Amino acid sequence: MEPSTQRADDSRERAFNPFPWYERMRRDAPAWVDPASGVLSVFRYDDVQRALSDYEAFSSERGARDASSALNASLISSDPPRHRQLRNLVTQAFTSRAIAQLAPRITAIIDELLDPVVAAGRMDFIADLADPLPVIVIAEMLGIPTSERVQFKRWSDAIVSTTDSGLTFMDAQREMARFFSGLIAERTAEPRDDLISHLIAAEIDGKRLTAMELMGFCVLLLVAGNETTTNLLGNAILCFDEQPEVYERLRAQPDLIPSAIEEVLRYRSPVQSMFRSATGETDLAGVLTRPGQPVVAWIGSANRDEARFPDAHVFDITRAPNRHLAFGHGIHFCLGAPLARLEARLALEALTIRFLDIRRIPDAPIRWVESSIVYGVKNLPITFAPS
Ligand code: HEM
Repeated sequence: MEPSTQRADDSRERAFNPFPWYERMRRDAPAWVDPASGVLSVFRYDDVQRALSDYEAFSSERGARDASSALNASLISSDPPRHRQLRNLVTQAFTSRAIAQLAPRITAIIDELLDPVVAAGRMDFIADLADPLPVIVIAEMLGIPTSERVQFKRWSDAIVSTTDSGLTFMDAQREMARFFSGLIAERTAEPRDDLISHLIAAEIDGKRLTAMELMGFCVLLLVAGNETTTNLLGNAILCFDEQPEVYERLRAQPDLIPSAIEEVLRYRSPVQSMFRSATGETDLAGVLTRPGQPVVAWIGSANRDEARFPDAHVFDITRAPNRHLAFGHGIHFCLGAPLARLEARLALEALTIRFLDIRRIPDAPIRWVESSIVYGVKNLPITFAPS
């Protein structure tokens, strides 16, 4: 085989099974500088945790703040003190208490998505449930009118998702920008009890957010929250498919669902890696960084580190403690974690009540997300027996 083809195959293989590579790297090269790119990768739990949380040594800022990415100026890409100011604007809407109030509505959305497919005894788990659920929930939180929901999903698919929306990235950005400026004008004139109205009214040092910053927030919530939650749900089904007795057990003991979700987050982390850039010279796992050096913290590897998790390669829904890093660590810890956990719990509760059994359709081809950051599948055909 040609070396380049070999590399392409390696990276495809690594997208859906990076775990043997992580294991080798934790053992043989826990802090590895790629000679071609100069990027420093760390693989062990303690080093990943440090890179994620030591914001003085490892910055989250991205280089170019170009217009194509409203995200470059957003919460996830900022350091203190700006980070704290931006985060303060949205924490209230995302506390566990605020999120818990959404439960009845989220359950209703899950039922609306499941009702039409139950009779068939089969569904594409991603297209029919895992993909639409988080988009509908965040659209409702933001205050997007129901009549615009279909459009909104198309834009968000084109901008962030790997499913084909039939729209180009640029067209979607343009249409969404037009839509948001209309909505912002409406809510400025007549505020409601929704996240957009709340953000419009918010001030940092007496200054309101600009329209671009407001849009940046909305896009961040889409980018950070949708595909990740979709993949958490899909990855749960992949885990259950490998051990059918787990699904049986969850049907009998639904109170284990929250800890099963934590184990899916650890074992098949939807976000496998995060970027930082070194601010100066610092020792990370025995390597002295240079200022500006890109650093990759391999969350997916930290979560399989035997030094932290006994029998790390075993999927165990009763694992305790389970201090995985799937939602990050420190000041950037995932804002949407309570929401993702709630959506996953309610979805798995609905499935275990409504379906006796869930199986992947044997031999039905599965397409993996080809990325070293996002881990999940684009489609997941399953059969089930309604209970
Ligand atoms: C299973 C689903 C999810 C996973 C695995 C996940 C993972 C993560 C991770 C690893 C980070 C840390 C990034 C860093 O350290 O640089 C993060 C941050 C963030 N997440 Fe999530 N996320 C999920 C769902 C959500 C949802 C549903 C939302 C919102 C609707 C959301 C919004 C955010 C935001 C705004 C940040 C940036 C926080 C900050 O920089 O202070 N995420 N997420």
